[in-house]
Amino acid sequence: MLKQLHIPEYPDVLVGSNTADDAGVYKVRDDLALVQTVDFFTPMVDDPYSFGLVAAANALSDVYAMGARPVTALNVIAFPENMIPLEVLVQILRGGLDKATEAGVAILGGHTIKDNEPKYGLSVTGLIHPDRIITNAGAHPGNRLFLTKPLGSGIITTAIKGNLVGDSDINEIVSLMATLNRAASRAMVEVGVRACTDVTGFGLLGHLQEMLVASGVSAIIAASNVPILPAARRFAARGAIPGGSKSNLRFVESRVEFAAEVDETARILLADAQTSGGLLIPVDPDKGDLLAEKLAAAGVDTIAEIGTISDGPAGTIRVTA
Ligand code: CO
Ligand code: CO
Ligand code: CO
Repeated sequence: MLKQLHIPEYPDVLVGSNTADDAGVYKVRDDLALVQTVDFFTPMVDDPYSFGLVAAANALSDVYAMGARPVTALNVIAFPENMIPLEVLVQILRGGLDKATEAGVAILGGHTIKDNEPKYGLSVTGLIHPDRIITNAGAHPGNRLFLTKPLGSGIITTAIKGNLVGDSDINEIVSLMATLNRAASRAMVEVGVRACTDVTGFGLLGHLQEMLVASGVSAIIAASNVPILPAARRFAARGAIPGGSKSNLRFVESRVEFAAEVDETARILLADAQTSGGLLIPVDPDKGDLLAEKLAAAGVDTIAEIGTISDGPAGTIRVTA
């Protein structure tokens, strides 16, 4: 849609809205740039405090994906004050505040509007050195590709809305979605990677494809190396599949070549729309082991090497079994 607008160019805009990057970047001084992003959505879990945690972790993630340090945030809130007790809103905000505090981010204020469906998220500002911005465009043939959270949150949260999910699976998915990508981001910054994105609404294949297009490269993914939540496999096999994940797959599949062994359920899982998913990090082959070590040392639970970046038509993906 942005293509229909004339967006003026500014010399200090280092990353703008034209590259499908996770956040925008604006140069303040030669050694300092602002990283800015906003994300908010409707509840994906019933518990308001959990919703606040997840929404904040998700909003912060775009700053971490750029290799930046988030410093301030503003609450973005829509709430039906006559239909739901205000205590629910307090719980949502408490979740957001606790997650921001864990991240060392100051919430400076925010804005609330009345709306029939609650919505919550953050507008986040981070800091980075202009020479160290990690974008979608830095992937190179030969890079090893790492993913730092398992897939399946879209399928599981859809199943939660259908009352199909038990408490232990709900707790597991909330804690996964509420996990900050901070530790993974610090590890990749220490290693010195040149590209990263976080996996969110377009799913693994969609966000990978954006990165491949921006970098002018292709990729090979081994489906069996992609970590998937067991509960997501169970629900997907029973057909509990979000519309968004199906349309993600339809959107990417003309440029994805799937091995015959990768069945429709597995394909959907690879395209599943994630909330607050992990970082997808291409790294030079000789730095791959170091990245895995640093991720482990930082306490990142999932460190999956899922494939490689290759030469080939930009944006194309081959998925092997
Ligand atoms: Co993002
Ligand atoms: Co975003
Ligand atoms: Co206002």
